[in-house]
Amino acid sequence: MRQENKMQIYLIGFMGTGKTSTGIELAKLMNRELLDSDDLIVKKEGKTIPDIFKEAGEEGFRKIETGIFRNLSQDDNNYIISCGGGAPLRSENVSFMKKNGVVVRLTATAETVFKRVKGDTKRPLLQSDDPMKRIIELMSQREDAYSDAADITVSTDGRTPYEVAVRVASALTK
Ligand code: S3P
Repeated sequence: MRQENKMQIYLIGFMGTGKTSTGIELAKLMNRELLDSDDLIVKKEGKTIPDIFKEAGEEGFRKIETGIFRNLSQDDNNYIISCGGGAPLRSENVSFMKKNGVVVRLTATAETVFKRVKGDTKRPLLQSDDPMKRIIELMSQREDAYSDAADITVSTDGRTPYEVAVRVASALTK
């Protein structure tokens, strides 16, 4: 079976690897609807991501996130889903993704991520005096979870979201 025939397309990867911007282009190319797991969480809770982290901690956020992936695994629409960067850390989430979808990992170097997320205040895990150090630490802690989850991997360094989307679409038809 061609990968594109699997129902959902889950875009995973570290913060700032371009999951949302690639998702927008991919949705146009493939004529599919784009969802964003963070947006679904915000809608469900009626709170911002920083407020959820403040009130429930990262663990509380992760529980809500898993509920979102459980629901998506039961949805038979052909969505493209831009996933929060930490989603693959729970193997349960990855099982939900694999149940009805193909997992596409986007990568970027720590330098590229730093340039893209510099000055961002909406990502609680990067609010640090030394965000570059934090990016390097988190990336290395997460490397195995991302690579184990991925069916397809595409690098985004030096590429526009459209160029990345074209590569993803082409990999999905192989
Ligand atoms: C997180 C990434 C964020 C968001 C939350 C936690 C992470 O999503 O889910 O701040 O643990 O990497 P993006 O990857 O869309 O920034």
